[in-house]
Amino acid sequence: MTLITSIGVVGSGQMGSGIAQVSAMSGFDCYLWDNNAAALNRAFESIKAQLQRLVEKEKITSKQAQEASAKLRKASSVQDFKNCQMVVEAIVENVEVKTRLFRELEPVVAPTTILASNTSSISITRLAAGVTRPDKVVGVHFMNPVPVMKLVEMIRGLQTSDETYNQSKAAVERMGKTTVLALDSAGFIVNRILCPMINEAIFLLQEGVKAEDIDAAMKLGTNQPMGPLTLADFVGLDTLLYILRILHAELGEDKYRPCPLLIKYVEAGWYGKKSGRGFYSYNS
Ligand code: CAA
Ligand code: NAD
Repeated sequence: MTLITSIGVVGSGQMGSGIAQVSAMSGFDCYLWDNNAAALNRAFESIKAQLQRLVEKEKITSKQAQEASAKLRKASSVQDFKNCQMVVEAIVENVEVKTRLFRELEPVVAPTTILASNTSSISITRLAAGVTRPDKVVGVHFMNPVPVMKLVEMIRGLQTSDETYNQSKAAVERMGKTTVLALDSAGFIVNRILCPMINEAIFLLQEGVKAEDIDAAMKLGTNQPMGPLTLADFVGLDTLLYILRILHAELGEDKYRPCPLLIKYVEAGWYGKKSGRGFYSYNS
């Protein structure tokens, strides 16, 4: 099996920047690109600050931080991915946009290059059906925040080859992650369970329970590190709504119906921490 040594990451939001950071820290040559130049610059600033913090906490040496920085490069377009053996997309949770990106990447990269998706809920089989090499498409679902969370869900589409699966799994494990194999069904394992719980918390908020009480109840009563509304703000309410809509449409059951209050917040542009306001306010 050919070992993957070079990775491209598309989308430099909270997930893409985390995947790029962990890839570079694990010794992969990594290109990161975003179609929003400001977002790309922000990601490089944030990764630099994260590495600096890790040095200050003596988790890594300054030499290791420098080596990781040297491994990470800013791509100026998808053309820069031409020598990458695996490209991981972490762009908006929308099947049409992700398919368009994979179609744009396919003629640029080598026929052997793996096209991996960090999708939270979209069918890998459907994404694979949009390209001419569906055997090269796989789901690698990292958790947020990527540098901290140990899990990556692996998802095989119907057409994913054994080689694609084994190579991508080995790459993710070399990043220090533990993998589980999920079914290619909406929400996989984590979001199938997590998102309905968060949605239920939003229904309680809509019914008049205070956000602080809902979060304190779940933190202190079930030992979760963050209450569900804080976690929703952290994930991004836009992303959460995309996921719930996919769960609802694909699995067809009312229990996945997004809470109307969540829809309103997203319509208002209150996406959570990343936009400065969600169920809580974030001033800095
Ligand atoms: N990036 C990198 N490191 C981070 C970080 C970030 N964004 N946020 C926190 N950390 C690090 C801190 O530096 C700290 O490291 P040390 O222990 O080495 O000092 C460590 O994480 C703990 O951080 P804090 O002490 O500041 O805060 P905390 O104890 O509250 O932990 C947390 C923060 C790890 C985010 C924790 O609150 C947590 O685990 N929350 C739940 C996260 C979760 O459930 N993620 C899954 C979301 S669902 C998903 O990802 C799937 C999807 O498709 C939506
Ligand atoms: P985000 O909004 O923080 O970042 C998305 C980035 O993608 C933005 O910087 C945007 O400019 C860029 N982008 C959008 N369309 C693009 C395109 N066509 N080409 C290039 N760049 C493009 O989103 P995020 O939270 O990082 O989520 C990204 C993906 O990861 C989604 O599929 C999401 O479901 C998944 N995911 C999210 C979480 C989470 O907790 N937020 C966890 C696991 C997986």
